[in-house]
Amino acid sequence: MSKNNNVSVIGLGYVGLPLALLAAEKGYSVTGIDTNKQRVSAINAGKDPIGDSYVANKIKENPFTATTNYESIAGSKVVLICVPTPVKDVYKPDLSYLKSAVESVAEKMTKDTLIVVESTINPGVCDEVVVPLLESKSDLKINKDFFLSHCPERINPGDPKWSVDNIPRVVGASSHDGLMKAVDFYESIIEAPVKPMSSLKEAEAVKIVENSFRDINIAFVNELAMSFTKLGIDVKNVIDGAATKPFAFMPHYPSIGVGGHCIPVDPYYLIEYARGHGFDHEFLSLARSINSKMPDFTIDRLTEALSEVGLSLKGAKIAVLGLSYKANVADDRESPSYKLIKILGSKDVKVATYDPYFPESSTTPNLQEAIKDVDAIVLATNHDQFKNLPNEKTNAKVFIDGKNAFEKEDFSKRDIVYRGIGRGYL
Ligand SMILES: NC(=O)c1ccc[n+]([C@@H]2O[C@H](COP(=O)([O-])OP(=O)(O)OC[C@H]3O[C@@H](n4cnc5c(N)ncnc54)[C@H](O)[C@@H]3O)[C@@H](O)[C@H]2O)c1
Repeated sequence: MSKNNNVSVIGLGYVGLPLALLAAEKGYSVTGIDTNKQRVSAINAGKDPIGDSYVANKIKENPFTATTNYESIAGSKVVLICVPTPVKDVYKPDLSYLKSAVESVAEKMTKDTLIVVESTINPGVCDEVVVPLLESKSDLKINKDFFLSHCPERINPGDPKWSVDNIPRVVGASSHDGLMKAVDFYESIIEAPVKPMSSLKEAEAVKIVENSFRDINIAFVNELAMSFTKLGIDVKNVIDGAATKPFAFMPHYPSIGVGGHCIPVDPYYLIEYARGHGFDHEFLSLARSINSKMPDFTIDRLTEALSEVGLSLKGAKIAVLGLSYKANVADDRESPSYKLIKILGSKDVKVATYDPYFPESSTTPNLQEAIKDVDAIVLATNHDQFKNLPNEKTNAKVFIDGKNAFEKEDFSKRDIVYRGIGRGYL
């Protein structure tokens, strides 16, 4: 695709910001659009608003302009939509951000524009929601005047190996011509294969299937963790053993729960859509239910360990370390830490929290302060800053390793009861 084509990227978060930086680096003239004024100002000042090393490296050079208005759409031949698609109420897909962005695009877009939805959506959203909105809010017709494509984002924030420029992509589109344009565009910016899919619906399904696959596998090992605790078997050792099989096994590990904007959210998009078409996704619902139980399971382990040292949960002082949903990222969306903290609060526990990525949400200013004078420590996120925990000064009598980041032996020289998740230490 000619680099003379202007590109607009809508939604400058974990997905849109690295993508806008990449397209600009590859020679496109890029405009970034976001409704968040502070974010737009930070980007234009060359600052990384999301705490991501890929973004921090590239943004200093100010390679594109960010704005809160949609004026650039009229002059853009490629429009990439990367707005949030969360769930609301009791896990109902919330397409309000996507609909709003699509309406704003429709009001400004001109002929021959390729619109690409990168946000995660269930099968059917492009055909049933996006196309009708684009047509009704403009006087343009799909495949005659403009093209729609879906290229689900697969970025994995904090991953040193896989980033926006080297992760393979799948692309679906409204027509053959639209598909060719979309494949051409992605091949011009990424150093990885771009696989054309036969429809928008197939491309939409790919992303939900990938993330549901992960949720289901994690649910399986979380269930094993709960079972093996009763059976006195160390689940981590078993998984590591099974992983020596060079084919047909892929290790996943148990923990205090599943967080982030994708894995605990995306399965609901398929569950709800299929339910509306008369199919009940029992397997996906069960995985969600098992993974949601893990904070309660963690608290049961904590209660048992406290009782072993003559303490009760009620009235105890507990340090919860880590608010991010995963290690070394400044993202706490759907983090199981918050569920854990909420349950502890409801049980009359005094909770001290600390996360170096969320100083404002932490109740203590540093790690030492958080763990100094507590009965137990719960490691909820295995940030690098917590690696020296076995050697830190603390009065805690119990250590709950919610990420199985340590071994029992790491604490052997200390007067502390260590519990992992499913490590078989009854
Ligand atoms: N975070 C991930 O790791 C990841 C990975 C793959 C896919 N996804 C998917 O990508 C999409 C975006 O996720 P994210 O993590 O980047 O979200 P995010 O919250 O980090 O960023 C979204 C941005 O969109 C902006 N926004 C919201 N409504 C807007 C509108 N109408 N117009 C312009 N800007 C608007 C917000 O202000 C925000 O800055 C979601 O569908 C998500 O499921 C996320």
